[in-house]
Amino acid sequence: METASRVELIVKGNLPEVPSQYIQPPEARPNLHYSGDAASIPTVDLSSSDSAREAIGDACRDWGAFHVINHGVPIHLLDRMRSLGLSFFQDSPMEEKLRYACDSTSAASEGYGSRMLLGAKDDVVLDWRDYFDHHTFPPSRRNPSHWPIHPSDYRQVVGEYGDEMKKLAQMLLGLISESLGLPCSSIEEAVGEIYQNITVSYYPPCPQPELTLGLQSHSDFGAITLLIQDDVEGLQLYKDAQWLTVPPISDAILILIADQTEIITNGRYKSAQHRAVTNANRARLSVATFHDPSKTARIAPVSQLSPPSYKEVVYGQYVSSWYSKGPEGKRNLDALLY
Ligand code: OGA
Ligand code: NI
Repeated sequence: METASRVELIVKGNLPEVPSQYIQPPEARPNLHYSGDAASIPTVDLSSSDSAREAIGDACRDWGAFHVINHGVPIHLLDRMRSLGLSFFQDSPMEEKLRYACDSTSAASEGYGSRMLLGAKDDVVLDWRDYFDHHTFPPSRRNPSHWPIHPSDYRQVVGEYGDEMKKLAQMLLGLISESLGLPCSSIEEAVGEIYQNITVSYYPPCPQPELTLGLQSHSDFGAITLLIQDDVEGLQLYKDAQWLTVPPISDAILILIADQTEIITNGRYKSAQHRAVTNANRARLSVATFHDPSKTARIAPVSQLSPPSYKEVVYGQYVSSWYSKGPEGKRNLDALLY
């Protein structure tokens, strides 16, 4: 059982100031008085794939991120997933939560945790976040007995949610491929068998939001991320040298292009750099569903978009390096550029 602290326990201590390990260096601190022109993050209506394809191409080129509506996932499933996530963090006693503690010595291990990066280096700044990570695909990785047992529909809903997100992710990878003039299956074939993780992130209120980050600046390292959030703002996207707040839209799903799609599309589409900020008054919840290649997959730009600008990489090596060096924006991807 891991003994690392949870942010929730710090908050229970009612400290007037955040512990020093959570204080970001001045250049990484958020400017909470500026939230940019958030309204312009694109929203793509998926009810017609013909018009969606073009809108997705524009959104991927300009933003690496977009909301989708009319996505076919039942809205009550999004709502139930959010409320079950919140219930785990807010209603279960700590003793119960710690029964699901993740293994903090291995990357992205399943369960309840707080530290994203490995190791106990004193110089890493910690995120103001607790999370629960579920392994949901391929089916051989899915073991609901690793997930919370309360409320009684928790395990069933996580399973259904994973199934729906995977279908949507596959459809989007198809439209993204086609938006580049590639066959529908191109990106999915380059990814291979899809590994899916569902991470529920819980950001407790923070006494000094101006000094901390809920989640440090990064791009997701897999292929595509589908994210829902509650009605508390906090997710920000980096675009044109500015941090823009992503407005919460309860029925929409936010799509984030991740690093392997940037490599596969040879940089035609860039992964979205993002972070989460905290606030002093309200806890915030998000559910991110990651779709990744297998650790043994070799990822390289598709031949139709040659000459390649990125070196081929074994996905597992990319992930290990990400976890040991830290994301620091997009430095792991930059290291693959010719
Ligand atoms: C993530 C992530 C953002 C959020 O889990 O990778 O970027 O809003 N989450 O919680
Ligand atoms: Ni992310």
